[in-house]
Amino acid sequence: MAEKTFHRTHRCGELSLADAGKAVTLCGWVQRRRDLGALIFITLRDRSGIIQCVFNRETNAELAAQAFTLRSEYTVCIKGTVAERDDSAKNPKMETGMIEVIASSLQVFSKADTPPFEIVENSDVNEVLRMQYRYLDLRRPDMQRVIAMRHRIAQATRRFFDNEGFYEIETPILTKSTPEGARDYLVPSRVHPGKFYALPQSPQQYKQLLMLAGFDRYFQITRCMRDEDLRVDRQPEFTQVDLEMSFVEMEDVIEVNERYIAHLYKEILGKEIQLPLPRLTYAEAMDRFGSDKPDLRFGYEIRNLSDVVSACGFGVFENAVKNGGSVRAIKIDGGSAKISRKDIDALTNFVKTYRAGGLAWIRLTDGGVKASFEKFVSAETVSAILSTMEAVDGDIVLIVADAKNRVVFDALGALRCECARRTGVIDKDDVKLLWVVEFPMFEYSEEEDRFVAMHHPFTAPLDEDIDKLTTDPASVKAKAYDMVLNGFELGGGSIRIHSSELQAKMFDALGLSEEVQKERFGHLIEAFRYGAPPHGGLAFGLDRICMLMAGRDNIRDVIAFPKMQNAAELMMNSPDTVDEKQLTDLHIALALEDL
Ligand code: AMO
Repeated sequence: MAEKTFHRTHRCGELSLADAGKAVTLCGWVQRRRDLGALIFITLRDRSGIIQCVFNRETNAELAAQAFTLRSEYTVCIKGTVAERDDSAKNPKMETGMIEVIASSLQVFSKADTPPFEIVENSDVNEVLRMQYRYLDLRRPDMQRVIAMRHRIAQATRRFFDNEGFYEIETPILTKSTPEGARDYLVPSRVHPGKFYALPQSPQQYKQLLMLAGFDRYFQITRCMRDEDLRVDRQPEFTQVDLEMSFVEMEDVIEVNERYIAHLYKEILGKEIQLPLPRLTYAEAMDRFGSDKPDLRFGYEIRNLSDVVSACGFGVFENAVKNGGSVRAIKIDGGSAKISRKDIDALTNFVKTYRAGGLAWIRLTDGGVKASFEKFVSAETVSAILSTMEAVDGDIVLIVADAKNRVVFDALGALRCECARRTGVIDKDDVKLLWVVEFPMFEYSEEEDRFVAMHHPFTAPLDEDIDKLTTDPASVKAKAYDMVLNGFELGGGSIRIHSSELQAKMFDALGLSEEVQKERFGHLIEAFRYGAPPHGGLAFGLDRICMLMAGRDNIRDVIAFPKMQNAAELMMNSPDTVDEKQLTDLHIALALEDL
C-alpha cells in the first residue's frame, strides 16, 4: 500500500492559543502570500477559517523559496508548530489572530489560475460573476458559514421530528400535477408518448395518502418545484420541511411546529423564543398591517379613516368610500424629520406600483400642520384625521384611498415596511414570530371568474362555516394557519377534509365539474372511502428559515446552487438546448418559430 504523504491533524480555524507548541498538519487553500523579506506569510484557508503560516528565509531558505512560489488559491499541505504570536503581531480581529504556525514542510497539491474575483468575506462582486463561478464564491468564509448553518438546521430538523415520533418518508419527484396554484414544471415521458410527469409543487397529496396509509406522523425535507416569478424569498426549486399528522386538530399541529422553530433558534442561535407564539386572525392582520404576513418589529399600524372622511368634500376620499372601498392611513412617528418632500414623491411612486392612485399626506412640524389635500377639506377634517391617528408634532400621516380595499391594504402594507426601512426603526436582531389563523377559505379569481381555494382544495372549513359553503362561500373561513417571521411567510398548512361528502361539497363550491374532480383527484376521493383519519399538517420553507436565521436578505445566499431572477443557473448553464435525438425519443417537436 502506498505510504500516506500527509495526515491532516486540525482544521485551520479550530486552532487557538491552547494549541501552542503542538505539531500540526493543515490542508487548504492559499488565501494570501505576503513577502516581508526574512519572512514569508501564507494565510491558509479551509472551511473552518483561516490561519497564518510563517516561512523563515534565515532558518530554512529552501522551504521559504518554495513558499515564495505560492499564489492565491493553490491547494497545499503545511506542516509546522503552533506558536503564540509576538504581542505586536497579535490581531484581535482575526479568529486565530493570537497564534501562527511556524512551517516546517510544504506540499503543493494543485496550482491555481488567478480567480476572476478575490475570495474574501462579504465581497461585493457582481452577482452574475459570482454565480458563474459559484464554486469560488462558495469558498468565501461568509458563504461557508451560511451553508454550514443550513446543514446544522437540516440535522436539527431531522433530530427534532424523529424525537417527536415522525417517520421520514420520501415521495415521488416524477408525479402528477398538484394544485398548489403555480405553473408546473413538466417532464415528457418517453414510454408514454404525449404524456407528461409534473415535478411536485409540494408532496401535498402524497402526504395525505401516507396518513390514509396509516403512518400517523410523516416528515420530509424535500425539494419542490414551481414555475413562478422569482422574488427575494422565492426560487423555482426550493426545499420544504414538510409534515403531516393523523388524529390531530389545529392546536396539535400548531403546538409541535412552534416548538420546532423555538428548538431551531435555541440550538442554532442560542436564542430563547417565548411560547406559545402570538396569533392574529387574517382579518386583524389585514386590518392592522395590510398583510397576511405582517412584520411586527415596528408599529406604523394602519387605521381606518373612512368614517372621518366619508363626507369631507374631497372627491378622492369620498368616492373611495362611496364605491365600496376605504380610506386608511399609517402614522410615521417622528417621520417629519426623516421623510422629505422628495421621499414623499418616491413613496407616491412606490404605492402606485401597488395600483394605488396616489398618496395623500399630513406633515406636523414645529407646531404647524400641512396637508397635501388641505385646499379641498376643512381644518376640522384635518384635525379629525390627526386625532384618529393620534398624531403629534413631528409625525407624518400617509393616506391611501381606493374603491378596492385590497389595493388600500396592499399599498399601505408595503408602505409601512418601506417607511420602516427608510426610517431605520427595524432592529435586525429582533425575531417576531406569530401565527396568522382563520384565513378565508376562498378568494375570488378575476382571471378564472370563480372562487379558488386560498390554500388548497383539501383544506377543511371551520366547523361553524360548513353550511355556508354553498350559500355564502366568500365568508367561509378555513382551518388554515401560517407561521410568519419578520414579514416573511415561514410556513403554512391546514387541517384537511377527511370526509368524502365534505370534499365533494368543497369541489362543488370551487365550481369543479365531476369530470374534473375525477380526473384530477379521483385517487384521493377514492382513498377517502376506505377509512380516513382526521389529519392536518404544514410545510415550512427551509430556504426561508435559513435566510432569516443567517440574517441574509436573499434566499439565493443560502442555496448552494441557486437560480437567477430569470430562472437560469449560470454555472452549469441551465436550462439548455438538447440533442435532436433526445427530443425524438421523447416524441417532441419544437415549434420555436411561434415565439
Ligand atoms: P405553501 O405553498 O404555503 O404550502 O408552501 C409552504 C412554504 O414553502 C415555502 N415556499 C417557498 N420558498 C421558496 N421559494 C418558493 N417558490 C416557495 N413557495 C413556497 C414558504 C411557504 O410557507 N402543501 C402546502 C403545505 C401544507 O398545507 O401542509 C404547501 O406547499 O415558506
